[in-house]
Amino acid sequence: MINLTGRVAIVTGAGGGLGREHALLLARHGARIVVNDSGGSLKGEGRLNTPAEQVVTEIIENGGDAIANGASVTDAAAVQQMVDSALSRWGKVDILVNNAGILRDKTFAKMSWDEFRLIIDVHLMGAFHCTKAVWDTMKRQSYGRIIMTTSSSGLFGNFGQSNYGAAKLGLVGFMQTLGLEGAKYNIHVNCLAPSAGTRMLDGLMTSSMLHALHPALVSPALLALASDNAPNRAILCAGAGSFERAYITMTRGIHIGSHAGVADAVLDQWEAISDRNGEFIPESGTAQSQLELEKAGVVVTSKEA
Ligand code: NAI
Repeated sequence: MINLTGRVAIVTGAGGGLGREHALLLARHGARIVVNDSGGSLKGEGRLNTPAEQVVTEIIENGGDAIANGASVTDAAAVQQMVDSALSRWGKVDILVNNAGILRDKTFAKMSWDEFRLIIDVHLMGAFHCTKAVWDTMKRQSYGRIIMTTSSSGLFGNFGQSNYGAAKLGLVGFMQTLGLEGAKYNIHVNCLAPSAGTRMLDGLMTSSMLHALHPALVSPALLALASDNAPNRAILCAGAGSFERAYITMTRGIHIGSHAGVADAVLDQWEAISDRNGEFIPESGTAQSQLELEKAGVVVTSKEA
């Protein structure tokens, strides 16, 4: 049984939906929680402290310990104050759940600059602000568990969500490098790709589908990623009591070389390039050039000083 007694967690966007369930579950497993939420509509309009305060009341009534915070994750200074308040009250931050989010769906042709930028600001820059504010503390502690909330929209695309998809896959890239840089400090960084019947799916599904996708069914995946035994650099999908993993992989491909007909050869040999036999998950970005150099017959050695 996962025991988070003594752990301190910050959950952004925890006034409702998935974040609320995450915060309640982490608290039930003993963690002390900063319940962050700026309130407001699904489109990110308006501000309200009450959703975060209500979740704090619930946690305390259940015998837990929590404080409310109304910062918008887009406000770096307010996010720093939020982290400072957790540090001054509890002396550490062990777990960060980057969950806050909004939608501004539109086809790309109709999407304004502001609608694109706002979604990047909330999801990607918001996660950056929160992560930056806890990173040194986690390094000093030699302990950290960070969860980014990605989405199947980013991983696989969704009509009308080019802004959201870009931000959500950006979080996967953010996680990949942080997981590498944090490993030696026991900071594990993972992505959760939820599917949940929150207000984000209002009008898109029947009530029985929404019921089957209750957000509380996603939170155990979050709890696993927040635990001492969390993996590092995984993309865990969760919804309706099911759990899957998504991967970013590379095929072995072929070597074509350099001559006037290379572009035509790429199209002619599309099937061989795409062949998933021997497909692998690169340990880091350098794997691509290493593989290409090997196929070009170049011996790969580390650069001499
Ligand atoms: P929700 O709308 O119920 O919850 C999002 C919460 O974030 C709200 O309470 C909102 O007030 C808060 N929030 C919004 N902007 C904020 C800001 N700037 N600062 C602080 N708090 C802010 O939506 P849901 O479904 O619970 O979404 C949670 C996360 O899961 C989001 O990142 C969303 O993109 C992601 N997600 C949800 C899926 C679903 O099926 N519901 C699918 C894939 C990803």
